[in-house]
Parts: sequence; C-alpha cells; structure tokens
Amino acid sequence: MRIAVIGLGYVGLCSGVGLALKGNEVVGVATTEEKAALINGGKIPIYEEALEESLKACLKGNSFRATSGLASAVASSSATFICVGTPSASDGSIDLAQMKSASESVGAALKKTGEYHVVVVKSTVIPGTTEDEIVPILERQSGKKSRKHFGVAMNPEFLREGKALSDFLHPDRVVVGTGDKKAAEMLRKVYADFGAPIIETGIREAEMIKYASNAFLATKISFINELGNLCKKLGIDTYKVAEGMGLDKRIGKHFLQAGIGWGGSCFPKDVKALIAKSREEGARMKIMEDVVDVNASQRKLVIEMLKKKVPLGGKKIAILGIAFKPGTDDMREAPAIDIIKHLQAEGALVQAYDPKAGDNARRLLLDVNCHASARDALKGADACLILTDWPEFAELTDKDFALMKNKIIIEGRRILDPKKVGGYEGICW
Ligand code: UDX
Repeated sequence: MRIAVIGLGYVGLCSGVGLALKGNEVVGVATTEEKAALINGGKIPIYEEALEESLKACLKGNSFRATSGLASAVASSSATFICVGTPSASDGSIDLAQMKSASESVGAALKKTGEYHVVVVKSTVIPGTTEDEIVPILERQSGKKSRKHFGVAMNPEFLREGKALSDFLHPDRVVVGTGDKKAAEMLRKVYADFGAPIIETGIREAEMIKYASNAFLATKISFINELGNLCKKLGIDTYKVAEGMGLDKRIGKHFLQAGIGWGGSCFPKDVKALIAKSREEGARMKIMEDVVDVNASQRKLVIEMLKKKVPLGGKKIAILGIAFKPGTDDMREAPAIDIIKHLQAEGALVQAYDPKAGDNARRLLLDVNCHASARDALKGADACLILTDWPEFAELTDKDFALMKNKIIIEGRRILDPKKVGGYEGICW
C-alpha cells in the first residue's frame, strides 16, 4: 500500500520505516526540506536502536523516502498516518497546534483526491479529540464527508524509545479505533502479518486505551517505588518482593523496577493530560494525582539521602546517567534534570557521564561538565549518583569508584553489581 506518514519524529520515523519494512511504499513528510534531505541521506536526528540501518535499507530499496511536500505525499497515497507531536500545554492539557495544522493540510490535500483514503491518527490525543476536532477540520478542508468519501481511524502507538522500531514490528496488540468498516478493513490489511491480535474499537476507546496503558504503567512504577521506600526502612529487599509479586500472572513482572521513577516524552505528558481532562470533566483521578506526587518525591529523596552524607556546597558530584532511561539520548522529563538543577542550586559542582545523552545535556543544562567516560566523571568526586540504568554501569567495579575523593554512592536504578561494587546505598533497597 502507498502510505503517507506526517511527522518524522520518533513515532513517525519508526512507524514509517516499519511500514516500509513490511512491504509498503512510504512517503514520510518532514516539517522542513533540510530534515527531509538529512533523512533521505540515511541520517536520523535521534539515537534509536536499529533505526538508521533500517532506514538506509529502505531508502536503497525505494520503499521509503522523505519529503516536505505534504499535499503530494497524501494525494499519491491510500492512507495517511498523522504522527505529529502533541506536547503538554502549561495547564497539563495537550497542545493540539501541530495536530490541527497537519489535519488542515491533509484535509486540503484530500480535496483533490478521487480515491478513497484513510486518515489514521497515531499521535496521542485525549479522548474525543479525533471526532470533535480532527474530523471537522478534515471535512471542512476537503469539502468531503468522513465515512463516505474518506475514512478516519485512531491507531495509538505503544513504542518505547530505544526499542521503538522493534516495538512497531512486534506489537503486543494493534488497536484500530474506527467504527467505519472500510477504514477498519484497510488497517487490518496494513497490520495483517504483524502476528499480533488486532482489537477493533470506537475512536474514543482507542484514544483512551493509549492513556490508560501509560497511566497504568506509571502507576505500577510509583506503586513499587512507594512500597520500596517502606521496604528499605524495614530492611526488606524490594526487588525480591517485586519478583515474588511479578510471577503472579495477574500482576506481571514488568514495570516493577523500583528506583528514582519515570520520565520521558510520554508518561509525564500523558498522565498530566489525563489528570487535566478528569478535572475538566469533574471526575477527578485521585490515584493518578498521587502517582505523579510519588514520582516527584523520589527525585527529592535522592537529594535528601545525599545531603545526609555530604553537604552540597562546593562539592563535586558525579552523575552517572542523564537520559530518562537507557538506550536513548532523550532527556525529556529525565529525573537527572531536576536532580542536577537542585544540586547546582545548593552549590554543588556536577561532573556527569551518559553514554548517549552527553551532547543533549551540554545543550540543555548549564555548567555541567559532561565527560567521555564514567571513570572520568568519577575522578575526584565527593559523591556519585546513579540515575540511569545503562548496562555498562553494571561493569563498574570498586577500582573505578576508587577514583573518587570520597566513596559515597547513591544508586537510583539498581544497576551496579554488588559483587563488583561495595558500600553503596540504594534508593529503595
Ligand atoms: C513509554 C511506554 O512504555 C510506551 O508504550 C509509550 O507509548 C511511550 O511511553 P518510553 O517513554 O520510551 O515508553 O519508556 P519506558 O520504557 O516505558 O520507561 C518510562 C520510564 O519509566 C523511564 O524513565 C524508565 O526508567 C522508568 N521505569 C520503567 C522505571 O522506573 N521502572 C520500571 O520498572 C520501568
């Protein structure tokens, strides 16, 4: 199938390349000619496992190309996936500016098409948005009727950064929210050989499934973090408790790793948006509000633990791990940002290392010395905080930490190997 993908960020690029790998002919629409040229040259502006190699293979096989020409991309395709960003507005709700502008352009392009076309919303939008805001724009701009001349579906993404392409190609489930038989049929064709169950829902249910999934996962993490804080006081190993709970199929073992909590481009934004919507509707989600509070307090806890061991003024603090999780250079809402800013506000000097996020950290944080290795960051430090569970930190040994001035280590992610490093304190264990 010929498919246009609007927006070439994480979701758009991974979905576009994924659809191309599955035998479709994909045109990805970038916001600028420069970005399209970069991608057509086989380069990606982010770090994402296997994406660059796969993009190169698709470019070579002519199954993927990027352009800045939205109208012709849509006009020459049978389906358009909208994958633009829906960032947080200041009140926690989502900012639909990119979504509306993309929909206007897609609608205008549909005006000139003769064939049936399906518009697929992949961007995360609060329930009701597709039907109440996007469809009217598409109809107005195209002068056509949805369900009659074109179809609309909501097909949420569940891609984890760092594993986004693999998650796209091997989903646990595919959610097709439409209610329009023809649109559903087309999407069933697109996802026919993904080996995953396809669940058909209404558009609003599909929108909510995305929020509900992320909100539940964030809740699981905040739950284990809160429990972990109690376990630590009782001298109980939280990770053993999580293992014992996780083997119960009804609970599941994933997302029970206690530590400094969740960040990233999705959980914080989605949970905030759900809370904002629940308040707007007068159906307050008290659990979700607490989930956010617990997450914020884990970051403060690290600082409190550190301050009990060393006064911060003028002290050199080594930070190992800045990205919001391993496998990405993304620092959006990373716990490290809040923690580093707090340390600096109290007069500490930060010397950091992250295998991938160093360049982003230099751009986003002031006065942080970003080093080329963990050992360099540890040299002469008065204390060390481990904030991202990069696998290479599991290789660190007492010899590496001997480079510090004082061996004070606070472990926020349970990645150090206790057989190789002794004398550190874990946040929830
Ligand atoms: C998430 C969802 O997993 C994905 O389905 C969605 O569509 C986008 O948001 P992502 O933000 O890439 O993906 O990261 P994820 O792997 O889910 O981790 C989110 C945060 O939770 C990270 O900061 C991670 O360190 C933290 N986390 C995760 C924990 O603290 N403990 C855990 O057990 C798991």
